[in-house]
Amino acid sequence: MVNLAKNDKRITLAWSGASGAPYGIRLLECLLAADYEVYLLISSAARVVLATEHGLKLPSGPDAAKEALAKHLTVSTDKLVVCGKEDWFSPVASGSAAPKQMVVCPCSAGSLAAIAHGMSDNLAERAADVVLKERGQLLLVVRETPFSTLHLENMLKLSKMGVTIMPAAPGFYHQPQTIDDLVDFMVARILDHLGVEQGLVPRWGYDQRS
Ligand SMILES: Cc1cc2nc3c(=O)[nH]c(=O)nc-3n(C[C@H](O)[C@H](O)[C@H](O)COP(=O)(O)O)c2cc1C
Repeated sequence: MVNLAKNDKRITLAWSGASGAPYGIRLLECLLAADYEVYLLISSAARVVLATEHGLKLPSGPDAAKEALAKHLTVSTDKLVVCGKEDWFSPVASGSAAPKQMVVCPCSAGSLAAIAHGMSDNLAERAADVVLKERGQLLLVVRETPFSTLHLENMLKLSKMGVTIMPAAPGFYHQPQTIDDLVDFMVARILDHLGVEQGLVPRWGYDQRS
């Protein structure tokens, strides 16, 4: 029987079809570099966004997608597990085996709504539902603008349940020079919330003067 330590370094990362593919890629790289076992869930729309924004066309099968990511990323993908959209036998589908932490980055308004209503219609939605019922840590990096009342209500509902809503809204006070600097700002905040050590951007009041 698999013995899962309480503080194991396992995490579920879902890429949904919101704009912001570079956030998802960079977050995956950082988690793998920090030696996390990452269960990666990729929606159909996320594949379109990845191709559009990042020029990365992922094949549809999980194994082939992992191979393509291995070639694309700058870190080892030994601990990367790419899951199929309806792989109901994946550990992330059950409270008995799922990682206690999950991030949806980027998170579309559609995935936000599905999670807020416990739809569990695909593996990503089910994994989020499992983290909620197990009282784990769920972070949603929502990207849409402007927000409708529906979006705001869904975020409020989840926030009241302990979900961290992190709009993909990087700051500029670290004086970004490149798009990568903006991406790193968001990823640094996500890693901080997950408790993953990072030194991607200067810290306010310590490393930077205004
Ligand atoms: C290039 C591209 C960019 C998109 N950007 C957003 C976005 O920023 N926010 C959003 O909520 N939906 C966005 N969408 C629409 C979603 O992909 C669409 O609603 C999809 O059904 C979401 O499904 P998913 O959450 O299962 O990935 C975008 C779609 C495409 C193709």
